[in-house]
Amino acid sequence: MTDFVVAIDGPAGSGKSSVSRASARALGFDYQDTGAAYRALAWACIERGVDPQDPSDVIDALETFEYSIGIDPDDYFVRVGSETVTREIREPRVTTMVSAVARIPEVRAYLVELFRSIIAASTKPGIVVEGRDITTVVAPDADVRILLTAAEEVRMGRRSAELPGESAETTARQLASRDAQDSRVVDFMNAADGVTTVDSSDLDFDQTVSAVVSLVHAAQTSAESTPH
Ligand code: DC
Repeated sequence: MTDFVVAIDGPAGSGKSSVSRASARALGFDYQDTGAAYRALAWACIERGVDPQDPSDVIDALETFEYSIGIDPDDYFVRVGSETVTREIREPRVTTMVSAVARIPEVRAYLVELFRSIIAASTKPGIVVEGRDITTVVAPDADVRILLTAAEEVRMGRRSAELPGESAETTARQLASRDAQDSRVVDFMNAADGVTTVDSSDLDFDQTVSAVVSLVHAAQTSAESTPH
Protein backbone atom coordinates (compact mmCIF):
# COMPACT_ATOMS: atom_id res chain seq x y z
CA MET A 1 0.00 0.00 0.00
CA THR A 2 1.22 3.47 -0.85
CA ASP A 3 2.22 5.60 2.12
CA PHE A 4 2.27 9.12 0.71
CA VAL A 5 -0.88 10.85 -0.52
CA VAL A 6 -0.97 14.21 -2.32
CA ALA A 7 -4.51 15.61 -2.45
CA ILE A 8 -5.24 18.32 -5.06
CA ASP A 9 -8.58 20.10 -5.43
CA GLY A 10 -9.61 22.95 -7.67
CA PRO A 11 -12.17 24.27 -10.15
CA ALA A 12 -12.48 23.37 -13.84
CA GLY A 13 -9.77 24.91 -15.99
CA SER A 14 -7.28 25.30 -13.14
CA GLY A 15 -4.96 22.87 -14.91
CA LYS A 16 -5.51 20.34 -12.12
CA SER A 17 -5.53 17.18 -14.24
CA SER A 18 -2.48 17.88 -16.36
CA VAL A 19 -0.52 19.36 -13.44
CA SER A 20 -1.41 16.41 -11.17
CA ARG A 21 -0.41 13.88 -13.79
CA ALA A 22 2.89 15.60 -14.61
CA SER A 23 3.68 15.98 -10.89
CA ALA A 24 2.99 12.27 -10.32
CA ARG A 25 5.29 11.40 -13.21
CA ALA A 26 8.06 13.67 -11.86
CA LEU A 27 7.73 12.12 -8.38
CA GLY A 28 7.46 8.48 -9.52
CA PHE A 29 3.96 8.37 -8.01
CA ASP A 30 0.62 7.06 -9.23
CA TYR A 31 -2.12 9.49 -10.28
CA GLN A 32 -5.87 9.21 -9.71
CA ASP A 33 -8.31 11.44 -11.61
CA THR A 34 -11.53 11.24 -9.56
CA GLY A 35 -13.67 13.38 -11.89
CA ALA A 36 -13.35 10.51 -14.38
CA ALA A 37 -15.55 8.29 -12.18
CA TYR A 38 -18.37 10.87 -12.04
CA ARG A 39 -18.02 11.26 -15.79
CA ALA A 40 -17.99 7.49 -16.39
CA LEU A 41 -21.16 7.09 -14.33
CA ALA A 42 -22.87 9.91 -16.25
CA TRP A 43 -21.75 8.25 -19.50
CA ALA A 44 -23.11 4.86 -18.35
CA CYS A 45 -26.47 6.46 -17.47
CA ILE A 46 -26.74 8.14 -20.87
CA GLU A 47 -25.80 4.90 -22.70
CA ARG A 48 -28.35 2.85 -20.75
CA GLY A 49 -31.12 5.38 -21.12
CA VAL A 50 -31.09 6.27 -17.41
CA ASP A 51 -32.02 9.89 -16.77
CA PRO A 52 -29.03 11.42 -14.90
CA GLN A 53 -31.50 13.89 -13.35
CA ASP A 54 -33.40 11.06 -11.62
CA PRO A 55 -31.50 10.22 -8.39
CA SER A 56 -33.19 6.90 -7.67
CA ASP A 57 -32.49 5.56 -11.18
CA VAL A 58 -28.88 6.74 -10.97
CA ILE A 59 -28.49 5.03 -7.57
CA ASP A 60 -29.87 1.80 -9.09
CA ALA A 61 -27.39 2.13 -11.96
CA LEU A 62 -24.52 2.11 -9.43
CA GLU A 63 -25.21 -1.56 -8.71
CA THR A 64 -24.03 -2.61 -12.14
CA PHE A 65 -21.42 0.12 -12.59
CA GLU A 66 -18.09 -1.64 -13.22
CA TYR A 67 -15.48 1.08 -13.25
CA SER A 68 -11.75 0.86 -13.74
CA ILE A 69 -9.08 3.51 -14.21
CA GLY A 70 -5.38 3.46 -15.02
CA ILE A 71 -3.43 5.14 -12.21
CA ASP A 72 0.00 4.90 -13.84
CA PRO A 73 0.51 8.46 -15.19
CA ASP A 74 1.94 6.93 -18.38
CA ASP A 75 -0.97 4.53 -18.86
CA TYR A 76 -4.15 6.50 -18.30
CA PHE A 77 -7.44 4.89 -19.32
CA VAL A 78 -11.01 4.80 -18.10
CA ARG A 79 -13.20 1.72 -18.57
CA VAL A 80 -16.79 0.84 -17.84
CA GLY A 81 -17.14 -2.94 -17.96
CA SER A 82 -14.96 -3.97 -20.88
CA GLU A 83 -15.53 -0.72 -22.78
CA THR A 84 -12.78 1.90 -22.92
CA VAL A 85 -14.39 5.33 -22.51
CA THR A 86 -11.32 7.52 -21.96
CA ARG A 87 -12.32 9.93 -24.74
CA GLU A 88 -16.09 9.51 -24.60
CA ILE A 89 -16.32 10.79 -21.01
CA ARG A 90 -14.96 14.19 -22.17
CA GLU A 91 -17.75 14.67 -24.71
CA PRO A 92 -20.02 17.70 -24.13
CA ARG A 93 -23.10 15.42 -23.70
CA VAL A 94 -21.37 13.91 -20.65
CA THR A 95 -19.93 17.19 -19.34
CA THR A 96 -23.38 18.81 -19.29
CA MET A 97 -24.85 15.86 -17.32
CA VAL A 98 -22.06 15.14 -14.86
CA SER A 99 -22.98 17.74 -12.21
CA ALA A 100 -26.45 16.19 -11.83
CA VAL A 101 -24.90 12.80 -11.06
CA ALA A 102 -22.21 14.29 -8.78
CA ARG A 103 -24.73 16.03 -6.57
CA ILE A 104 -26.45 12.80 -5.43
CA PRO A 105 -25.22 12.05 -1.86
CA GLU A 106 -25.41 8.23 -2.33
CA VAL A 107 -23.30 8.49 -5.48
CA ARG A 108 -20.71 10.57 -3.64
CA ALA A 109 -20.59 8.16 -0.68
CA TYR A 110 -20.14 5.19 -3.02
CA LEU A 111 -17.42 6.84 -5.10
CA VAL A 112 -15.53 8.18 -2.07
CA GLU A 113 -15.11 4.56 -0.87
CA LEU A 114 -14.07 3.50 -4.36
CA PHE A 115 -11.45 6.29 -4.51
CA ARG A 116 -10.05 5.20 -1.13
CA SER A 117 -9.78 1.59 -2.28
CA ILE A 118 -7.94 2.71 -5.43
CA ILE A 119 -5.52 4.76 -3.28
CA ALA A 120 -4.97 1.71 -1.05
CA ALA A 121 -4.23 -0.47 -4.09
CA SER A 122 -1.37 1.73 -5.32
CA THR A 123 2.03 0.09 -5.07
CA LYS A 124 4.10 3.19 -5.88
CA PRO A 125 5.81 5.23 -3.12
CA GLY A 126 2.97 7.76 -3.36
CA ILE A 127 -0.15 8.80 -5.24
CA VAL A 128 -1.45 12.18 -6.43
CA VAL A 129 -5.26 12.30 -6.22
CA GLU A 130 -7.16 15.16 -7.81
CA GLY A 131 -10.77 16.30 -7.72
CA ARG A 132 -13.04 18.64 -5.79
CA ASP A 133 -13.29 17.07 -2.32
CA ILE A 134 -10.00 15.19 -1.97
CA THR A 135 -8.45 17.55 0.62
CA THR A 136 -11.67 17.61 2.66
CA VAL A 137 -13.55 14.30 2.28
CA VAL A 138 -11.67 11.59 0.36
CA ALA A 139 -8.24 12.06 1.98
CA PRO A 140 -8.40 14.79 4.64
CA ASP A 141 -5.28 13.25 6.28
CA ALA A 142 -3.22 13.40 3.08
CA ASP A 143 0.47 14.21 3.55
CA VAL A 144 0.20 17.20 1.18
CA ARG A 145 -3.09 19.04 0.56
CA ILE A 146 -3.29 21.62 -2.22
CA LEU A 147 -5.97 23.88 -3.65
CA LEU A 148 -4.97 24.70 -7.21
CA THR A 149 -6.62 27.88 -8.38
CA ALA A 150 -6.32 30.42 -11.18
CA ALA A 151 -8.14 33.67 -11.87
CA GLU A 152 -11.44 33.08 -13.68
CA GLU A 153 -10.36 34.77 -16.92
CA VAL A 154 -7.17 32.69 -16.97
CA ARG A 155 -9.15 29.45 -16.49
CA MET A 156 -11.55 30.41 -19.24
CA GLY A 157 -8.69 31.22 -21.61
CA ARG A 158 -7.03 27.85 -20.92
CA ARG A 159 -10.26 25.88 -21.35
CA SER A 160 -11.03 27.70 -24.56
CA ALA A 161 -7.55 26.86 -25.93
CA GLU A 162 -8.32 23.17 -25.18
CA LEU A 163 -11.62 23.32 -27.11
CA PRO A 164 -10.79 25.15 -30.35
CA GLY A 165 -14.09 24.11 -31.96
CA GLU A 166 -16.18 26.11 -29.46
CA SER A 167 -16.48 29.89 -29.23
CA ALA A 168 -14.72 31.51 -26.28
CA GLU A 169 -18.08 32.83 -25.04
CA THR A 170 -19.72 29.38 -25.08
CA THR A 171 -16.76 27.84 -23.25
CA ALA A 172 -16.76 30.62 -20.66
CA ARG A 173 -20.50 30.27 -20.06
CA GLN A 174 -20.30 26.48 -19.70
CA LEU A 175 -17.34 26.66 -17.34
CA ALA A 176 -19.01 29.28 -15.12
CA SER A 177 -22.26 27.32 -15.01
CA ARG A 178 -20.52 24.02 -14.13
CA ASP A 179 -18.48 25.70 -11.37
CA ALA A 180 -21.66 27.26 -9.99
CA GLN A 181 -23.48 23.90 -9.91
CA ASP A 182 -20.51 21.94 -8.55
CA SER A 183 -19.66 24.47 -5.85
CA ARG A 184 -23.13 24.08 -4.36
CA VAL A 185 -22.10 20.51 -3.47
CA VAL A 186 -18.46 20.94 -2.42
CA ASP A 187 -16.55 24.12 -1.70
CA PHE A 188 -13.46 23.89 -3.88
CA MET A 189 -12.97 27.64 -4.23
CA ASN A 190 -11.69 28.21 -0.68
CA ALA A 191 -8.86 26.32 0.96
CA ALA A 192 -9.87 24.32 4.05
CA ASP A 193 -7.67 24.54 7.17
CA GLY A 194 -4.19 23.21 6.52
CA VAL A 195 -4.60 23.28 2.73
CA THR A 196 -1.96 25.20 0.73
CA THR A 197 -3.26 27.35 -2.13
CA VAL A 198 -1.22 27.30 -5.33
CA ASP A 199 -2.43 30.11 -7.59
CA SER A 200 -1.31 29.32 -11.14
CA SER A 201 -2.61 32.57 -12.72
CA ASP A 202 0.91 33.88 -13.27
CA LEU A 203 2.69 30.53 -13.56
CA ASP A 204 3.25 28.53 -16.71
CA PHE A 205 2.67 24.77 -16.74
CA ASP A 206 6.22 23.76 -15.72
CA GLN A 207 6.30 26.34 -12.93
CA THR A 208 3.01 25.03 -11.56
CA VAL A 209 4.29 21.44 -11.60
CA SER A 210 7.48 22.62 -9.85
CA ALA A 211 5.40 24.35 -7.16
CA VAL A 212 3.53 21.09 -6.46
CA VAL A 213 6.69 18.95 -6.52
CA SER A 214 8.44 21.40 -4.15
CA LEU A 215 5.57 21.15 -1.65
CA VAL A 216 5.88 17.35 -1.76
CA HIS A 217 9.66 17.43 -1.30
CA ALA A 218 9.29 19.84 1.64
CA ALA A 219 6.74 17.53 3.30
CA GLN A 220 8.95 14.47 2.68
CA THR A 221 11.95 16.26 4.22
CA SER A 222 10.02 17.34 7.28
CA ALA A 223 8.58 13.81 7.71
CA GLU A 224 12.12 12.37 7.60
CA SER A 225 13.37 14.82 10.25
CA THR A 226 10.41 14.27 12.58
CA PRO A 227 11.14 11.46 15.07
CA HIS A 228 8.45 8.73 15.10
O1 DC B 1 -12.66 17.40 -12.95
P1 DC B 1 -13.76 17.01 -13.93
O2 DC B 1 -14.24 18.13 -14.78
O3 DC B 1 -13.41 15.80 -14.74
O4 DC B 1 -14.98 16.57 -12.98
C1 DC B 1 -16.17 16.10 -13.50
C2 DC B 1 -17.31 16.43 -12.55
O5 DC B 1 -17.27 15.61 -11.39
C3 DC B 1 -17.35 17.86 -12.09
O6 DC B 1 -18.49 18.47 -12.64
C4 DC B 1 -17.42 17.82 -10.59
C5 DC B 1 -17.47 16.38 -10.22
N1 DC B 1 -16.45 15.99 -9.25
C6 DC B 1 -16.80 15.99 -7.93
O7 DC B 1 -17.93 16.38 -7.60
N2 DC B 1 -15.91 15.55 -6.99
C7 DC B 1 -14.68 15.13 -7.36
N3 DC B 1 -13.82 14.69 -6.43
C8 DC B 1 -14.31 15.15 -8.71
C9 DC B 1 -15.20 15.60 -9.64
